[in-house]
Amino acid sequence: MNCVAHLAPGQWTADDDRATGYLEPEYWTDLARLLERGRFDAVFLGDVLGVYDVYDGGPDAALRQAAQIPMNDPLAVIPLMSQVTEHLCFGVTCSLSYEHPYTFSRRMTTLDHLTRGRIGWNIVTSYLDSAARNIGLDRQLSHDQRYDLADEYMDVCYKLWEGSWEDGAVVKDRVNGIYADPSKVHPIGHEGHYFKVPGFHMCEPSVQRTPVLFQAGSSGRGKQFAGTHAECVFVAAPTRKIIARNVADIRAQASASGRDNAAQIKIFAMLTVVVGRTEDDVRHKIEQYRSRASHEGAAALLSGWTGIDLAAYAPDDTLTYVDTDAGRSALASFSSADPDRVWTVQEAVEYVSLGGRGPLIAGTPAQVADELEAWMDETGLDGFNLTYIAAHRTFEDIVELLVPELQRRGLYRDEYEPGTYRDKLFAAGPRLPSDHPGSRYVR
Ligand SMILES: Cc1cc2nc3c(=O)[nH]c(=O)nc-3n(C[C@H](O)[C@H](O)[C@H](O)COP(=O)(O)O)c2cc1C
Repeated sequence: MNCVAHLAPGQWTADDDRATGYLEPEYWTDLARLLERGRFDAVFLGDVLGVYDVYDGGPDAALRQAAQIPMNDPLAVIPLMSQVTEHLCFGVTCSLSYEHPYTFSRRMTTLDHLTRGRIGWNIVTSYLDSAARNIGLDRQLSHDQRYDLADEYMDVCYKLWEGSWEDGAVVKDRVNGIYADPSKVHPIGHEGHYFKVPGFHMCEPSVQRTPVLFQAGSSGRGKQFAGTHAECVFVAAPTRKIIARNVADIRAQASASGRDNAAQIKIFAMLTVVVGRTEDDVRHKIEQYRSRASHEGAAALLSGWTGIDLAAYAPDDTLTYVDTDAGRSALASFSSADPDRVWTVQEAVEYVSLGGRGPLIAGTPAQVADELEAWMDETGLDGFNLTYIAAHRTFEDIVELLVPELQRRGLYRDEYEPGTYRDKLFAAGPRLPSDHPGSRYVR
């Protein structure tokens, strides 16, 4: 996130932590160069449009701990990073609950042009009422209604990205002075329940047209949405058991919605790695991280994700599942998703304070690599979405220590594949596959 404390509140207080440098261009260009040196697929940027004010009924805890506030725009840092890299791709979170698809689709196309096809979009529906209120609504739409709106939103985007400009509409005919052939640019004529867009896309087509589509909500309705639209899915849960079930569900949903390449959906689990040269080194790092972790900040985050004010509970109260209009999978993963594992409020807060909703794997390069292999084998995952505790130390350690170990085992690329983000992920061209619902609008 373009902020101080994304998923590890409190760590910014360390003298050698770079998190407070997020306002400087070098923070982003150094990060991009580092990740490309480590042959990462992509940098994933999260985003929210409101403050975490569920905890203790207000924003004070989040503000004190810089827990995802202040928060700058994630899209703006992408050209900085793409300018200093050649292959690193960018998955950026944009909520479709608060921006019209006509203007949003233009911003994505612009970035796909400027990055030469290295853009992915993490489609989220948002979970904070505070965002809705500041955009003039009394409260956010209900959980499932947000996904209904999202389905129509995607249709508008597909029509603009895939259907309004034919291949060959841009002729750039210098002799006759014709830039675009009007007969090949088509108004989309969209009139739906939530949106009305009569005209055509403002931008000429970019190489991918539709950005690589990510989704990250694991509620029942979220998985249905993912099965229809997502090419890649982020999952987050503390145990392999929950992750394995989510992976199977998402692939089943994709088959049910008629996509014949359901097995090809790439699924990445959120995970935090602390790696050191020796076990002593690792122990020392973990002790330091724990000593700085802000439980108040973590409680503010967890309250926002779940819609439940954790300040109203005692630390050893047990978390139980209830439906709320915030996100649903965050609370489920600490309660109903695994009945064999009971979480107290304090346990969940401590867990979340170092890297969020995924597990923390700590060890020497060989120990961490063994664990990652076990996660892959037991869950059907395609990879990991790595969070960080220390900026940029967590990723420096991974690039210097873990990546060479994974490369030695033949589990990790030595060199990048050519092409756009979609080419690199699926090796089947830069455009949406023909069984994807967006492809039905291709002219
Ligand atoms: C790895 C991961 C990253 C996420 N990043 C964001 C984010 O940046 N912004 C956001 O609003 N939601 C984010 N989410 C939340 C989900 O996209 C989703 O909105 C939330 O889980 C509620 O949906 P659900 O009830 O279907 O689970 C993320 C979830 C996961 C697993």
